Amino acid sequence: MEMESLKELLVDELKDLYSAENQILKALPKMIKKATSPDLKAGFEKHLKETQIHVERLETIFQELEESPKGKKCKGMEGVIADGKELMEEDAEPEVMDAGLIGAAQHVEHYEMAGYGCVRTYAELLGLNSISKLLQKTLDEERATDEKLTELARDINVEAEKAA
Ligand SMILES: [Fe+2]
Repeated sequence: MEMESLKELLVDELKDLYSAENQILKALPKMIKKATSPDLKAGFEKHLKETQIHVERLETIFQELEESPKGKKCKGMEGVIADGKELMEEDAEPEVMDAGLIGAAQHVEHYEMAGYGCVRTYAELLGLNSISKLLQKTLDEERATDEKLTELARDINVEAEKAA
């Protein structure tokens, strides 16, 4: 793919994020099933609904840009999710698994936050204000999810420490 302008870089990164969000849509139901803590399950369920909205938001953005969201597979997210999958195959105490799931989810959130922060800034620089606002909204939600996970970890990590 040719990449001669910031606009092209923006489109390329948005395609990566679109692929990443769709990979998360597939991974989250497995994490919900694997989690034991009701609070953690509920947190993942809430983020699954948010992720659906993130995908729709990206589709709106692609429409505005008159570009297709398809054509890229985000290899970074593929790796982050593969790590999470490896963890879920471990034979772990439920509390330890929950602590691990929080860590896996936080890796996902931080990867997304980096991506959304970049595209938000590119859109802002390019004067694409409505697009930059939508991206900021998603960025705020990813950050809120990450903070919620940190909060959950406070108890769950302690439980994990007491397990077995
Ligand atoms: Fe997301």
